[in-house]
Amino acid sequence: MTGKLQVQNDKLTVRKEIPLFSLRLTDEEISRVVEVLQSGKLREGPVCRAFEEKFASLVGANFAISVSSGTAALHVAYAAALSPGDEVLVPSFTFIATASMVSMVGAKPVFCDVDPNTFTLDPDDAAKRITPRTKAIAPVHLFGNPCNIEKIINLAQKYNLKIIWDAAQAHGAKYQKQDIGSFDDLVCYSFYPSKNMTTGEGGMITTNDQSLYQKCKLLRSHGQSGKYYHTLLGFNYRLTDFMAALGIEQLKNLLENVRRRRENARYLSEQFSDISIFQLPKEQPEGESSYNLYSILLNLNKMNVSRDKFLELLKEERITAQVHYPRPLHKQPVFEKDAADISLPISEDLSQRIFSLPVHPLLTQEDLEFIVKGMKKVVKQALN
Ligand SMILES: Cc1ncc(COP(=O)(O)O)c(C=O)c1O
Repeated sequence: MTGKLQVQNDKLTVRKEIPLFSLRLTDEEISRVVEVLQSGKLREGPVCRAFEEKFASLVGANFAISVSSGTAALHVAYAAALSPGDEVLVPSFTFIATASMVSMVGAKPVFCDVDPNTFTLDPDDAAKRITPRTKAIAPVHLFGNPCNIEKIINLAQKYNLKIIWDAAQAHGAKYQKQDIGSFDDLVCYSFYPSKNMTTGEGGMITTNDQSLYQKCKLLRSHGQSGKYYHTLLGFNYRLTDFMAALGIEQLKNLLENVRRRRENARYLSEQFSDISIFQLPKEQPEGESSYNLYSILLNLNKMNVSRDKFLELLKEERITAQVHYPRPLHKQPVFEKDAADISLPISEDLSQRIFSLPVHPLLTQEDLEFIVKGMKKVVKQALN
């Protein structure tokens, strides 16, 4: 890894670049995985069941279904809740899988705009797009930041919509003191390594509804209700026991890691509070973000450089920043032809001005101070 020369205690040292995401597995985590590998039982089995029980209990849901990725979680959840031709309200400002999996079950994603402060689905905009074919809403707790859950539930109740929450980035987030994984109808998680907890690849669905639980379990594994007896068309989206072993260990540290993410975010926000070209992350009044990402909006009108140049300058200061997301989904080539007449000004604007900084739990106080110092230097260069 390249580094920046720094004077520290009168010595020249090399400062490593601060990565956006970082992961260090503990000896305990590695041992538990190795134990399962040594048992020779590599498929889905009792360790997956134990992981599901512990996950459901931590988030306060009745049931959990482990799957092979966050994308698989969404695919199974949509397949359980929707029929071909249904319309689903989806925010345009999110990762592709929230919408692509709607299309994969033959339903239609209807793109909605997001709130300019929290970057999550705007329930008022979504309400305007409801038709007799609208059967579900798929809000995303983007970057770990809970949506306006109360308003979304009210909307869903009024129009009899199912809610499929995309919580891929939101393990450990809360709303009105309640874990976001405990809300109806289905909540979908990812365990990709950049997430708040990981199993390598992997995912989980939580629900309180017994019949949705049974249906998701069938869909996960070829619709097989008895040995080679298939009552539904399904997938192979099973997790494995050695991945679940890592999940069980990761779960033990989840809440502490989320606490650290929140503390890091609070520190960054305090330090950046007087930077006039920044709009800092904002939570719902009753939301507690789990800060999978710390994302800032730039006021480009007051700057003499573009967002991309700004990120290059940060890179020179050894700070990794990235754009989530540079293109809203209604402008993606794969969706554009069906969404040609749609204008979603907030999503379009955010994608031009947003960037994410490291906020992960392995950041030390020294790292945080390094980020703040580098950032202040770059802001000075970038101001008109
Ligand atoms: C909002 C969102 N939804 C869904 C996914 C899909 O998860 P996975 O990568 O585990 O398939 C991701 C992963 O990046 C995501 O960020």
